[in-house]
Amino acid sequence: MRRNRGAGARLTPGWLYRLCLVCLVPGLSLAASTLPGSPPAPAQRDPISPVPLQAAVDPKRLALGERLFGDVRLSGGHARSCATCHPLDRGGMDGRPRADMASANPPPRNTPTIFNVSLSATLNWDGGANDLAEHAERVLLNPGLMNATWPHLLATLQADASYVTAFGAAYEAGLTQANVLDALASFERSLLTPNSRLDRHLRGERNALTAREQEGYRLFRSYGCATCHQGINVGGNMYQRFGVFSEMGAGAPGMPVDLGRYYVTGAPQDHQAFRVPSLRNVAVTSPYFHDGRDRTLEGAVERMARVQLGRTLSQEETRLIVQFLHSLTGEYRGRPVAAPRKAP
Ligand code: HEC
Ligand code: HEC
Repeated sequence: MRRNRGAGARLTPGWLYRLCLVCLVPGLSLAASTLPGSPPAPAQRDPISPVPLQAAVDPKRLALGERLFGDVRLSGGHARSCATCHPLDRGGMDGRPRADMASANPPPRNTPTIFNVSLSATLNWDGGANDLAEHAERVLLNPGLMNATWPHLLATLQADASYVTAFGAAYEAGLTQANVLDALASFERSLLTPNSRLDRHLRGERNALTAREQEGYRLFRSYGCATCHQGINVGGNMYQRFGVFSEMGAGAPGMPVDLGRYYVTGAPQDHQAFRVPSLRNVAVTSPYFHDGRDRTLEGAVERMARVQLGRTLSQEETRLIVQFLHSLTGEYRGRPVAAPRKAP
């Protein structure tokens, strides 16, 4: 289901349609499409679609994956679990600027929220993985992250009769390496956060958004934020250089520059390109950016306008966009997604 793409290389049907409009009716603006009988203008279509209310995941595999996700015995030394860095009761991320992990190339990065991860077309800040099971294995075996080994991990789970029974019930082949990864991935696919107020608005519910949030959404589209942050996950489906209009220069203070997608492809145009992150639940997943350089959403929005669009927003415009971004907070198991506790 996932494909890698080069930086910025994405033509949505909307864009193709826009290009066609330009080539077929030169001189006419997008208003041309409001002529009688013509289809709605792409600019008027919503660039964002709602999260499904439920994920189709086998309940036994989901339950098993949930247990594995929170089990510290999956790490060498039994020191941490996936949930240590992706706590589900706290936004699905750890609240730190950068994760507590040993890593050189790339340097440690901000932990993305695990919520809605299956709705992104590619994984990690640099799109270095495409498949949840394959990604989980890499995390488990990474000495700087979970530092596990398969023989030790499988022996640990095998020694726990309740795991053996649960794997036997969920999978024909029982407890195997592949099924450990599949259970984790199944659970991750279940981590959807539907029912954000924006989604309710998109589903046609009146008054789901306040007038100010609607104005913020309008600005988000008219300034062009939605050309990058769009689709079902409001991001997660393309790569862009961080700093289209001005260079970001060095990374966060004291941090080496992160070359982003370049580590994955080695292609010059991918130097410091990053996956456009999802903005779902963004109000509760501070700090922001791959290196956690901004703690406030206001700061992140101003930076985006300046760096990606070459625009300076007024304070009022920033406030409106931030208010709109707050409407992207969804629900997990019927409760609003909450912010992480303060970083240690
Ligand atoms: C020490 C903290 C830490 C632990 C433990 C951890 N993660 Fe993560 N996780 C991160 C960081 C940091 C990233 C971003 C890595 C990057 O972009 O290079 C990430 C990224 C991810 C992503 C991709 C998210 C996205 O938006 O693309 C998934 C999926 C994920 N982790 C799942 C897991 C699973 C499953 C486990 C347990 C097996 C786990 N993580 C354990 C810190 C952690
Ligand atoms: C040219 C593409 C592009 C445009 C346009 C753009 N962004 Fe971004 N946005 C990105 C990329 C790429 C990142 C990740 C950069 C990084 O961390 O290195 C990002 C990150 C963010 C983040 C941080 C998310 C997080 O979880 O860390 C926010 C908030 C954000 N953008 C909001 C906006 C807003 C608001 C606008 C319009 C004013 C906008 N963006 C316009 C590409 C874009």
